[in-house]
Amino acid sequence: MARILIVNGPNLDRLGIRQPEIYGHKTLQDLEREVSDTARDLGLQVAFFQSNDEAAIVDFIRNEAPNSSGMIINAAALSHYSQSLPEVLKSVGIPTIEVHISNVFAREEFRHTSVIAPLCVGQIVGLGLDGYRLALRWFADHLRG
Ligand code: DQA
Repeated sequence: MARILIVNGPNLDRLGIRQPEIYGHKTLQDLEREVSDTARDLGLQVAFFQSNDEAAIVDFIRNEAPNSSGMIINAAALSHYSQSLPEVLKSVGIPTIEVHISNVFAREEFRHTSVIAPLCVGQIVGLGLDGYRLALRWFADHLRG
């Protein structure tokens, strides 16, 4: 069974509490439950990771990517300025989809840049938590084909 990593960056552990007018009322646990249900229906295995620590995210990706077929990442604020994240994505080379819950292009200018976008298969932006499950469906279609 193909294994997909679901990586969430800084402050996404505060989903449901943090700016609900932007990120909604569901928690990270709600998200992980919904994604797990979809993964089961699609016949995929998922491994979740959230951290506020860039180094911990880099370590997780380095350790887990070799045993995985793809990755869905919401690197949160790190998306806009990290140097180590694009480098680790380049080094592991598994197909990756970037997700943002909010429409970053309708927000402040600094959110319009993603340093990981050039290393990703594609982006899903602004579709709320549905973005993660849509990304999983893409993997279900493309990993079997
Ligand atoms: C976010 C958008 C980022 O700009 C922000 O720093 C986040 C969440 C999103 O999912 O919409 O933490 O990645």
